[in-house]
Amino acid sequence: MTRINLLSKRSVLAVPGSSEKMIQKARLLNADEIFLDLEDSVSLPEKDSARSLVISELNKGDFNSSSVAVRVNEQNQLIGIQDIKDLITKASSKFTSIIIPKVETPEQVTEICQRLTELELSLGLNDQTKIQLQIESARGLLNVADIASACSRTISLIFGPGDFAASMGMQVLNIGENPINYPGEDAYHHVLYSILTAARANGLLAIDGPFSDLGNEPGLKHRSQLSASLGYDGKWVIHPSQIEVVNSIFTPSEEVFEKSAKIMAHFNHSNANEKSAGAFLFEGKMIDEATRKMAEMIYSKGIAAGLKPSMDGDDYGKA
Ligand code: COA
Ligand code: MG
Repeated sequence: MTRINLLSKRSVLAVPGSSEKMIQKARLLNADEIFLDLEDSVSLPEKDSARSLVISELNKGDFNSSSVAVRVNEQNQLIGIQDIKDLITKASSKFTSIIIPKVETPEQVTEICQRLTELELSLGLNDQTKIQLQIESARGLLNVADIASACSRTISLIFGPGDFAASMGMQVLNIGENPINYPGEDAYHHVLYSILTAARANGLLAIDGPFSDLGNEPGLKHRSQLSASLGYDGKWVIHPSQIEVVNSIFTPSEEVFEKSAKIMAHFNHSNANEKSAGAFLFEGKMIDEATRKMAEMIYSKGIAAGLKPSMDGDDYGKA
């Protein structure tokens, strides 16, 4: 899968759909994606008014972020079904995707997609509404591979660490942190890896969940580094102060980006020569087709994040 054309989704800002003030503020922020939340950040009495507010704010448009998503309520509840119905009926084409929480089986996904198709057909819409799926329970994790391949509308898998910790019986009180007194490095490594693998096997983005301790920037950096290093595309943030930290960790460093561009150029240069070997030395290290692929991956992440190579390809080849 080539990633060159993917949009960057390094920071994904959660904005409570009941807060007009935060929605206005979010319009001006530089998160790669924002999502207006109708689920856990909205109290039960405010569910209907938040839905109306979100629909009216979506119709006004004017958001800085290139992606604006909406998280709906659980799809086994009437309120969640109404969320999707109203969004498609009253704000179609004003948002980029719908985030579905607490996904546990592929059948749920298929059912949601069928409902979307029926709704779109009934309204004469050609759009194929995209969906993002949150994996946040033991059952969801067990079924993640089948969930990831259940519907072609799916664009990303998102890890939900708070609900997941509760579902597993982990002793965690700050969302996104290791369990209290956890003696190891990372209690979520297996979960992150499984979600990432299911995502990549189906050409999807993989997004890490939030980190709730706003005063703990080193902690946010550490957690971001863990998922960014594995290959995740981005991480949810809950406050404007977390956006830049996360953006910077999910962007390859200038040094690594430049080196990737150089490896690709040297590889192409050498390939132009019919007699060249498949493997050769570059700055003392063996590079081959696998190295070129790794470099291309890093390079494309950098390009999507707005980095620019300092030379054009030919000049790298000569350098
Ligand atoms: N989106 C947009 N604006 C936000 C924001 C967010 N997620 N979080 C804070 N802000 C704004 C505040 O409104 C405030 O604006 P102002 O300077 O114009 O007054 C400014 O950023 C500073 O906020 P601050 O006073 O530090 O925090 P707060 O007490 O207003 O809010 C939270 C703290 C945690 C309640 C808030 O950040 C929040 O609700 N985050 C999202 C929670 C969520 O969606 N959870 C579910 C998904 S994980
Ligand atoms: Mg959740």
